[in-house]
Amino acid sequence: MISMARPDGSASKIVRIFKNSASYLIYLAECEGELSVCKIAHLDGAKLDREIARIEALREAYPGFKRRLVGVERAGKISTGEFTGKHYYLSKYVRGETFSHWIQSPTTEIGSLRNAYNTILPVLFDLSSTQRPCEGSWKTYIATMLREELSKLESKPMLRRILSSGEIVVDGTALRSLPKLVDELLSNDVVMTIDTLGRALSDLGHWNFHGDNVVVPDILNPSEFKVIDPDVSIVTSDPLFGVARFLYTYSHDTADYRQYYIHTRAYVPFEAGRFEFEIRRLWPEVVARNYEDLFGRSLQLGLPGIKGVPDELAQVRLAYCYLCCLIRGVNANFEDRLEFEGDRLDLIRNKSIFLLLAATKFANALARNMSGSIS
Ligand SMILES: Nc1ncnc2c1ncn2[C@@H]1O[C@H](COP(=O)(O)OP(=O)(O)OP(=O)(O)O)[C@@H](O)[C@H]1O
Ligand SMILES: [Mg+2]
Repeated sequence: MISMARPDGSASKIVRIFKNSASYLIYLAECEGELSVCKIAHLDGAKLDREIARIEALREAYPGFKRRLVGVERAGKISTGEFTGKHYYLSKYVRGETFSHWIQSPTTEIGSLRNAYNTILPVLFDLSSTQRPCEGSWKTYIATMLREELSKLESKPMLRRILSSGEIVVDGTALRSLPKLVDELLSNDVVMTIDTLGRALSDLGHWNFHGDNVVVPDILNPSEFKVIDPDVSIVTSDPLFGVARFLYTYSHDTADYRQYYIHTRAYVPFEAGRFEFEIRRLWPEVVARNYEDLFGRSLQLGLPGIKGVPDELAQVRLAYCYLCCLIRGVNANFEDRLEFEGDRLDLIRNKSIFLLLAATKFANALARNMSGSIS
């Protein structure tokens, strides 16, 4: 363990570094026998301040969040050393592992994971449904979110080429590309109906329950789980958006932990490479099986029959939110660099392309469902 000054100047021991991304340094420190997590913003202190304000507002407004969402113990600006002037906050450490880490542990039994999933999902529904409703048209909200995200994708030449190609092939299946599908999905009558059935938006929410933001102290006793890290880039959204983020865990983690390659000749120089992609997942077999078992079905089938979804319209809202999660993921994780594996020019790694392919697959499955029984 390394000793170093704590953000407030007192001595602390660094126990574990959780993450050091371009945006944040997040580590676990022990000070006078207490364990706290310190999150320091490398670049955007104002955004970290919004995160602190959102955590406090959620805990104040909703008893469910007071119990589940980890609070802020101390916050401010660092006054000494290399990080002087950077914004930080400390929160109480939740012993245990994130749900994603439990899934990734080869010793976790699938039965315990299923039980945890079936315990966590209804609680996330409850937390979401208690988020206060606000005025506004769901149709306008979902159309704005999908079109804005899509136009961000189209502003990136590498992604625009895929989007404008009309059709791509993923894992041997021909798929229509996103822009046409989004138009079709937004013009479905069901989208109109949702507005006639009461409020489907909230202006105070968490929006970010993916598996690495759900901390489970003991996988055999999952009801004690906590949540962290609200998404402050979203102010108003469908309350089901946070639940959709939970269902998005498999794609999120595969991208975030870099557990994939994409086999394609699309980027081989001097070749008119066709947009044919084959996704290879790199998770150890048992881990892939865990993720598939918990989340795979929703991804392939356009989310029908998720346990606990109250009705068919909630199902539709959830599915559209899920598509937003995937498309937002492409933008949030945008990488303009293609990483080639070894000496292979036909084996690439790029988070934005990986998530764009997942979004395209899902949008095709959803469009098929929507043109079938629901519409
Ligand atoms: N209070 C806590 N208790 C236990 N683990 C925590 C806690 N806070 C953070 N962690 C660990 O640190 C990781 C990263 O923290 P966090 O989710 O706040 O950052 P992030 O996902 O990088 O942030 P952002 O999504 O805002 O870019 C979590 O996935 C979790 O493993
Ligand atoms: Mg997080």
